Amino acid sequence: MTKANWNYPTAVKFGPGRIAELPEALKSAGISKPLLVTDAGLANLPVTQNTLALLRNAGVDVGLFAEVKPNPISANVEAGIKVLREGGYDGVIAFGGGSGLDTAKVIAFMAGQTRPMWDFEDIGDWWTRADPKGILPIIAVPTTAGTGSEVGRAGVITDETTHTKKVIFHPLMMPKIVIADPELTVGMPRFITVGTGMDALAHCLEAYCAPGYHPMADGIAVEGIRLVFENLPKVAANPNDVEARGHMMSAAAMGATAFQKGLGAIHALSHPVGALYDTHHGMTNAVFMPYVLVVNQSAIEGRIARLAAYLGLAPNFDAFLHAVIGLRLRLEVPHTLRDFKVDDSKRDKIGDMAIVDPTAGGNPIELTKARALDIFDRALEGRV
Ligand SMILES: [Fe+2]
Repeated sequence: MTKANWNYPTAVKFGPGRIAELPEALKSAGISKPLLVTDAGLANLPVTQNTLALLRNAGVDVGLFAEVKPNPISANVEAGIKVLREGGYDGVIAFGGGSGLDTAKVIAFMAGQTRPMWDFEDIGDWWTRADPKGILPIIAVPTTAGTGSEVGRAGVITDETTHTKKVIFHPLMMPKIVIADPELTVGMPRFITVGTGMDALAHCLEAYCAPGYHPMADGIAVEGIRLVFENLPKVAANPNDVEARGHMMSAAAMGATAFQKGLGAIHALSHPVGALYDTHHGMTNAVFMPYVLVVNQSAIEGRIARLAAYLGLAPNFDAFLHAVIGLRLRLEVPHTLRDFKVDDSKRDKIGDMAIVDPTAGGNPIELTKARALDIFDRALEGRV
């Protein structure tokens, strides 16, 4: 598979084996004592241990912080900030999937801030409250292909007091360099491969459907969708297909690049379900996807027809909808929320949380509570 260097949206060193360039990347980002931040589940796996060994063999004085749970909470960030400050680290290696990458980025951002983290939630111009000099440089190394957080300027952290997911944003949270090495994703279990891959698809699809004029995001999203349709089934069937894994890694970065345009009801419903039931983010998106498409149909029919044509399908909405359902079936994504161990006991609360979720505003039709509950009920019952 070809190797490549991209400078959009940041410097991306893409290709198998590029993890070997991590010591060099640290040097060019001006980091001499990095803290590698990843999630607890990943800390002892070979992919992490090999990377630490690679750094130590190159004479890099690297520390490890791995007290990060899936759907990371503010306590994880606070613990990491403490380790970072006490250890005198001068940069962060954001390593892992969405949880590890997001937590790492927020820790680097918070390194020299004096205000509490929630003061920097992605609301209006709150990010300007931050002292840019207090933000440490970040090198991102994704080990999943889905979140795309490696090319994003934000981190999603759960506020454990209210069980809500909040976005912390600052332009300088964009990693200086990304090492996108598909070989690092080869050991991912099937559930995570599929879930994260479907997250990438949800990012591209929701960005493409979000209202507003952003042809660059639209173009990136459409190609990202093609890459997922062609490569996620290959990766699910053969976990060692590095080329297909590389395309999935590209699709993940493309999704996160495109969703600066907006997300929508898939994420607006997935966030509260994830926060209340601790379900996997990408897999939750995958469950909601067809129901949201149908509810949004009147607003997106034309653009979905164009997308279907690009994918080689009949140029209409139904062809794309069936392709999504077929893809889910092939990948063994649960068809209903009930199959996913989510019941209707928190239905009302989920409706309330969905409409105030930061992503709700990007839905192509207004996400009223009635509409959010309609989507939830359809997903619960499997009524497309
Ligand atoms: Fe997502």
